[in-house]
Amino acid sequence: MEDFENNTFEGDSSMFSEDYRNLLEIKEVGRVVLDSEIFKEGCGQVHHGTSTVGRHTLEVTEEALHISDVLESHGIKIDREELIKGSLCHDLGIIGRHEKYPNNFVCWLAHPHDSVKIAKMLYPDMSKHLSRMISRHMWPATPLTPTSREGWILDLADTICAIRDVLPNHGKFSRFDYS
Ligand SMILES: [Fe+2]
Ligand SMILES: [Fe+2]
Repeated sequence: MEDFENNTFEGDSSMFSEDYRNLLEIKEVGRVVLDSEIFKEGCGQVHHGTSTVGRHTLEVTEEALHISDVLESHGIKIDREELIKGSLCHDLGIIGRHEKYPNNFVCWLAHPHDSVKIAKMLYPDMSKHLSRMISRHMWPATPLTPTSREGWILDLADTICAIRDVLPNHGKFSRFDYS
């Protein structure tokens, strides 16, 4: 089983596997988020009933890079750095949801915008592109569609991971041990 923190990969001797490279890339590009207090707090908040915000965040980021690998193999260019930042920040606004929002409906609508505010604190010079990726990641639950390739990838990766979380054997579908 892969270990995110220690970069150890039992049963996989390939140091250059796609998954391994993606994890290193997430750690390098996402260091600001991964080292933040808000992210650590998210590792203790239950998400989708079976996961945590921290775990879900990492799974979405890894899934987004996996989708990117497939697209890039067909010659489609992806801004991987923006995609990693957006994926790592997309649900940070949901942390503390029970204190912040009166119900799940308000949480659905408001958390993408709160995630943008937190992302701006972590990345003060964040681009409009990154801001839009985060604020529109809940489509079709919210009406505004993503506006970029990376935004659509994040939206798709988030949906895939959310569905995995609510399936009966959710743990078995996760490729990594983030504990
Ligand atoms: Fe979300
Ligand atoms: Fe999410």
